Amino acid sequence: MAERKVCLSGSGLTKIYGFGRTRTVAVDHVDFNFYEGEVISIVGESGSGKTTLAKMLLGLTSTTEGEIYFQGQRRDISTQRKKLEYWKNIQAIFQDPFSSYNIFNKIDAVLLDCINMRGGHGFPRAKKVEMMTEACSFVNLKFEELTNKYPFELSGGQMQRLMIARIFLLMPKILIADEPTSMIDACSRATILDMLMGLRDEIGMTIIFITHDIGLAYYVSDSVYIMEKGKFVEYGTADEVILNPKEPYTKRLINDVPKIYEEWDLSTV
Ligand SMILES: Nc1ncnc2c1ncn2[C@@H]1O[C@H](COP(=O)(O)OP(=O)(O)O)[C@@H](O)[C@H]1O
Ligand SMILES: [Mg+2]
Repeated sequence: MAERKVCLSGSGLTKIYGFGRTRTVAVDHVDFNFYEGEVISIVGESGSGKTTLAKMLLGLTSTTEGEIYFQGQRRDISTQRKKLEYWKNIQAIFQDPFSSYNIFNKIDAVLLDCINMRGGHGFPRAKKVEMMTEACSFVNLKFEELTNKYPFELSGGQMQRLMIARIFLLMPKILIADEPTSMIDACSRATILDMLMGLRDEIGMTIIFITHDIGLAYYVSDSVYIMEKGKFVEYGTADEVILNPKEPYTKRLINDVPKIYEEWDLSTV
């Protein structure tokens, strides 16, 4: 087997919001190595610091302490240009797809932006349409039916699929999916998960999956990190952590999911 390469790592990563009586340690000295092509789940209850960690990794919020390394180099997003360069490598899908779009941009503009971001400005129109059509068909959307529509004219499930079509065009090395299925119905949920895993196979992406659902984490991930009150209290392979949990907190999360093996059978969808 080829040697695994570290894609993203963190050392002593910490985020403190506020001060005095409102001081909250949202993320508290976490250390991790995420590998290329791996699916990692970060699992914890609401308020454990998952989204804050995601925002630090994305460079959407500052870090209070600690360092982030991308492909072995200390991450530098000190200028807007460096930030845009970094965002070619790391992208996100959030819980609420409706908050992710500029509602005044039509869907083809959303997708064209992605092509341009990857250096496709100069491509002929026909080539761009071909790329957009391919991205839409990857997520079972019909590009012809979407042109001239606005994102808010889609259903939640369709919106989330459009987000995945964007990722298909952007081809980042890392995708952070922060509870991407918690606002859509069970049927679309299975489809969305299937598509995310398809993307991993298609582009070899590293996927960081954030969820409070440990059953789901078991189903999708290679590695699992359990987050409690801003700290990683336990981590390892999905089998190690979920079939043989050591921490009481992990055991409690597992007990909240009665049918851990049956719940995420996508073959029937
Ligand atoms: N912008 C913010 N300002 C102040 N406190 C925040 C902010 N965002 C999150 N927090 C606090 O940080 C903690 C972790 O929140 P969050 O990262 O959203 O957790 P999770 O995604 O696991 O639910 C919570 O106590 C939350 O109230
Ligand atoms: Mg969150």
